[in-house]
Amino acid sequence: MLSALAAGLHRVEGLFDRAFEARFNPWYQLGALGFFFFWVATVSGVYLFIFFDTAIVGAFESVERITHEQWYLGGVMRSLHRYASGAMVVTVTLHLIREFVLGRFRGVRWFSWLSGVPLLWLLFAAGIGGYWLVWDRLAQFIAVATSEWIDWLPMFGDTLARNFLTDRSVSDRLFSLLVYLHIAIPLFLLIGMFIHVKRMKLARTTPARRLLYGTLAALVVLSIVRPAVSAGPADLSTTVAIVELDWLYLNTYPLLDSLGAGEVWGLLVSITTLLAVVPWLFPGEQSIEAAPAVVNPANCNGCGWCFKDCPYEAITMTPHSYKPELRQAVVDPDLCTACGICEGSCPSATPFRNVAELVSGIEMPAFPLDRLRLETERALAASNVPVVFVFGCERAFAVTGIESTDVRCLSLPCIGMLPPSFADYVARQDRVAGVLVTGCPPADCYFRKGSEWTEQRFKGDRMPHLRTLAGKSKVRVLWAAAHEGEVLERVLRTMRTAREDAA
Ligand code: HEM
Ligand code: SF4
Ligand code: SF4
Repeated sequence: MLSALAAGLHRVEGLFDRAFEARFNPWYQLGALGFFFFWVATVSGVYLFIFFDTAIVGAFESVERITHEQWYLGGVMRSLHRYASGAMVVTVTLHLIREFVLGRFRGVRWFSWLSGVPLLWLLFAAGIGGYWLVWDRLAQFIAVATSEWIDWLPMFGDTLARNFLTDRSVSDRLFSLLVYLHIAIPLFLLIGMFIHVKRMKLARTTPARRLLYGTLAALVVLSIVRPAVSAGPADLSTTVAIVELDWLYLNTYPLLDSLGAGEVWGLLVSITTLLAVVPWLFPGEQSIEAAPAVVNPANCNGCGWCFKDCPYEAITMTPHSYKPELRQAVVDPDLCTACGICEGSCPSATPFRNVAELVSGIEMPAFPLDRLRLETERALAASNVPVVFVFGCERAFAVTGIESTDVRCLSLPCIGMLPPSFADYVARQDRVAGVLVTGCPPADCYFRKGSEWTEQRFKGDRMPHLRTLAGKSKVRVLWAAAHEGEVLERVLRTMRTAREDAA
């Protein structure tokens, strides 16, 4: 079922790729957009706080002044605060759905998934609290409904609701507590967001610059065209009958009416529990493919390249187990996602070594280096005419589908697993007219950094890189997502034509 959903998702993302280019496709940076909207809400929130009257009698008036007297700045800030908070709900929800559909909650990724769940509660608590502070008719509605909702919990009795029965009984102290909570909850959210990305090296917490500016400009335009305004002032001597709800944050409130407080608590706790156990509910197949990387101390010289490249902080460097002057890589199996990117980092991972069985410093049990060499040679030997050789990635465009007598292909679990020396090795064969290295666009690498590191390695900006003249002249790197077959085939055609012209 997940693979059908993933195919649908890729189709939608493909449309955005065409409109935005993969680098700026918002689908590939939903987490980063979540961070961005958080910062917009924080900056605008700090501005609003300067002019906000934290006493209940002055709160409504102060928001009105900010909105109307200072419409060109305060008003825009208020709207930015509201719209950025709403956009955060949208992006975080899509982020959750995307990670689920792509199965990026399984195995050691349980931590990223589970640490995301409490963020949802904090996000909604922060947003709902914000509506409360305006102290207009909507705030009154929320205040009364939330108090009754919280009072359902046995430890509260009806103490909160009593506070909202009359204007006089709503104390300044309670209102100040709400203001304090509206600062404290986003602070906890921020701490939670940093814990959430802690296990990921160089987590992408800022969207691509053009996407960032475009999104900010859209928020500003929306704020000017459709400024956020208050409903009339709260008046607890009357009951609020009709209010215009923000369906992003306040979607549970209609349910309170139709289901009741206890039932809504039950529903929310059930959804949260269900979300929290997703990694164990859908564990996927436990195959050798998921086995963590293994270090072979005899072939590890302690260079630290794998340590630098591991996108999941799974590698540490320790004193070598028996060569006192060297360091050695050590893999924590509880953090390793079996991406294989470290196999592509190791300087000992070269097919030019003249050994019966090729073993490098760090390898994947499912796809050790010797298998990589054997499969490369097998693919080469399958044809005796000049060929273009393609190294691809199982999660990107399926290169094995374009294999023919003059196009030989090898698909890897992640293109980051490919040591550049293998491209050198293939390029040096006389029969090979060109080598194409392809995989998911860097912004959408399933293992986060596989394509980005590959691009840098082949450009010579990251170790290891191409070493032979043949490699430097014949190898080409081109990114093609699963739906971008025609781009790849077009380039292949030009490589084949160049080969025929040269012949
Ligand atoms: C405030 C809300 C959230 C923010 C700001 C946020 C942000 C991020 C960021 C920046 C990343 C790293 C992206 C990268 O560099 O590859 C990430 C990864 C991830 N997030 Fe979230 N996230 C949030 C909520 C959630 C929620 C609610 C879930 C699911 C329950 C979730 C699940 C994940 C998973 C599974 C990954 C790991 C992907 C991987 O291993 O490659 N996140 N998130
Ligand atoms: S396989 Fe990937 S996650 Fe595991 S140690 Fe190697 S680079 Fe890190
Ligand atoms: S890249 Fe290879 S040689 Fe370098 S530290 Fe890692 S395992 Fe050892």
